[in-house]
Amino acid sequence: MKEQEAGKPPADPWLEEEDDSLLLDEEEILGDRGSEGLRLTGARPGQATGLVQEKAYLVALNTEGTPGEDRVRRSLDELKELVEACGAVVLGSEWQNRHSRDSATYIGSGKLLEVAEAAEILGCNTLIFDHELSGSQMRNIQERTKFKVLDRTLVILDIFARRATSKEGKLQVELAQYQYRLGRVSLINESMSRLGGGIGTRGPGESQLETDRRHIRERINRLSRSLSEIGDRRATARAKRSDVGQTAIAVVGYTNAGKSTLINKLCDSDLFVMDQVFATLDAAMRDLRLPDGSHVTLVDTVGFIRKLPHHLVDAFHSTLEEVSAADLILHVLDASDPEAAEQMQVVEEELVRLEAGGKPRILVLNKLDLLGDEESEQFRHERQEPANYRVRAVSAKTGEGLEELVQDIAEMLVYRQRSYDLTLPYSESTLYAYVKDNGNLLEEEFGPESMHLRFSLDARLSGPIERYLRERKGE
Ligand code: GTP
Repeated sequence: MKEQEAGKPPADPWLEEEDDSLLLDEEEILGDRGSEGLRLTGARPGQATGLVQEKAYLVALNTEGTPGEDRVRRSLDELKELVEACGAVVLGSEWQNRHSRDSATYIGSGKLLEVAEAAEILGCNTLIFDHELSGSQMRNIQERTKFKVLDRTLVILDIFARRATSKEGKLQVELAQYQYRLGRVSLINESMSRLGGGIGTRGPGESQLETDRRHIRERINRLSRSLSEIGDRRATARAKRSDVGQTAIAVVGYTNAGKSTLINKLCDSDLFVMDQVFATLDAAMRDLRLPDGSHVTLVDTVGFIRKLPHHLVDAFHSTLEEVSAADLILHVLDASDPEAAEQMQVVEEELVRLEAGGKPRILVLNKLDLLGDEESEQFRHERQEPANYRVRAVSAKTGEGLEELVQDIAEMLVYRQRSYDLTLPYSESTLYAYVKDNGNLLEEEFGPESMHLRFSLDARLSGPIERYLRERKGE
């Protein structure tokens, strides 16, 4: 989803931009945040920002005993990467082993003071928790430690706010930010604004947050309406693609797995590739030609990550609908990453949440070039699963395995048949002829006014039938 030119709309040729009446314009989206990007609580317009770089101390909780320690360590490493992507520096980190989280201060209150002391000694000015904090936890921690307090959700929202380039992307991020802020309005007004800019300050302007919750709710409603308008356009675009029998393949994966690189290599395209998390936020479409000459559309989607804030998943609903509506899913995994197994699980869980868990799938084990001989040999032999699931090892960088991957795609699509049980009036004789020529006719019965057909058809050829059914429903 990353376009080289900032602000370029998603490259979906079917997505029409006719009616902007419900959409907020660019100025409204940016509000008083100007060109510096989104600002949640920082300086007022025209005021010196006095940005203080965060020197962060990361804090986590392990409630799973010794077996959970590894996972906490990896999650903290990832949080460090996320925080650094926001331009802050991480000077230290720590976790507490505890049976459950403390409802007032997340970690135990004694431990919190120890953490604050350690952070003070290192010269930190910010504590960042590796889990979403409630409004009251954030307030209590701020009051007790006098540090600026952030959580993983705010960090991820901040990165998304930096990366969003399309109108839809910006609206989606802003909606997620407002929803996150809804329960934390007074907290933000009281304490965060006094702490200057930085992470978490990219978002709705302070003036808006000074007003009451009702105002925020209205804004949320407005953003939701705008997004639902865009969602409708997406649905129309999808219907048009389906009308002409065009097949959509959603490319999903953990952030930085190589989705855009893979699409570029397969489609000879120019999606923006960066060695950074969430480089892509907007669903971009690219055309892929299969060996039999037919064309399919590859859809790049937003990358997933552990503990992806649910506000974001909800806000990105219309983009992610491209996944649940796709005919086939390519799940790209960075096989060279020591955490590949866990990343795979995170993505699989998100697919289930998106009701795409049962879709035909190819697991693409990417970055084969970074694996040792032994590992890559193991991956090359790791194949054959049920009919709707395959595994293919590739290197999007060197091109190894891509020909085979295209072959896999073609084979899986060929077997994708749709079944129909249809009553047609005799005036639809052209459609009847189409079914006879292209489909597998299992049963036909001719009545006085209509014919009854039972048949299956390659989904790529089902456009005329789908169009007929839609038109009939609209009558
Ligand atoms: P998000 O937009 O963050 O979700 O990332 P993405 O999954 O689209 O990944 P992207 O294509 O931007 O690639 C991330 C990094 O991995 C870039 O630095 C790529 O050059 C690198 N990369 C992608 N595929 C390969 C590969 O097969 N081998 C190697 N060595 N590097 C790769």
